[in-house]
Amino acid sequence: MRSYWQARVAQHLEDRYAGIPLLKFPEDLRVYEHLLWETRTNVVIELGTHSGGSALWFRDRLRALATYGRIADPLVVSIDLDIGRAREAIEKVDPGFGHIVLLEGDVLDEALPALVARHIPGRSACLVVDDSAHTYETTSAALRSFERFVSPGGFFVVEDGCVDVEEMRVDPEWPRGVIPAIEDFLATDAGRRFVIRKENERYGLTCHVCGYLQRQSGPDVA
Ligand SMILES: C[S@@+](CC[C@H](N)C(=O)[O-])C[C@H]1O[C@@H](n2cnc3c(N)ncnc32)[C@H](O)[C@@H]1O
Repeated sequence: MRSYWQARVAQHLEDRYAGIPLLKFPEDLRVYEHLLWETRTNVVIELGTHSGGSALWFRDRLRALATYGRIADPLVVSIDLDIGRAREAIEKVDPGFGHIVLLEGDVLDEALPALVARHIPGRSACLVVDDSAHTYETTSAALRSFERFVSPGGFFVVEDGCVDVEEMRVDPEWPRGVIPAIEDFLATDAGRRFVIRKENERYGLTCHVCGYLQRQSGPDVA
């Protein structure tokens, strides 16, 4: 099992969508398709753009939902410390690409949520994805700053909790702290509105251990 996991981790680092690196397992992409459909998400906020493959993939999924009449006004807002590589890669396959906003910013910057909010129309249904540095600090900051964008019933997906599972660690250089950051967040007033939905880890393999957080419906606990 461990050698299979190692091979899959290596494989996902080489994977592509529309010719652009996309660093996600097919199993986790399939889960996203369910979440987007079920929650009628029309805006994805992605923290960690890298080459832009995932921003383009999310945009194309949202456009498909719009075609089915499931949502209106699809939009992906994707943030990274440097978005130059992603802009160039997406422009190559989709010149003048629409429905994607690439923003340069640091998840640790407390001013970032206000900057992102300027791009998001009112009454949007947002899914937030944290795929940035996978440390305790960045995961905590992402949850603290971006949980506000998730409406009741919506999801905040913290990626790559696998870094904190000893049997899943394939490289001593991997960061740590994702799952502790989630646990600490869930104990806060804002965090008590969210629950971990383990049933989304449904395809046998996932990188996002304990990472599918759903905001509960009903009155705010905070
Ligand atoms: C794992 S990659 C993202 C992969 C991409 N989402 C995908 O699925 O193809 C992580 C990205 O997070 C960015 N990053 C790391 N720390 C960050 C921070 N503090 N703020 C914003 N982005 C950060 C890195 O520059 C890197 O491009």
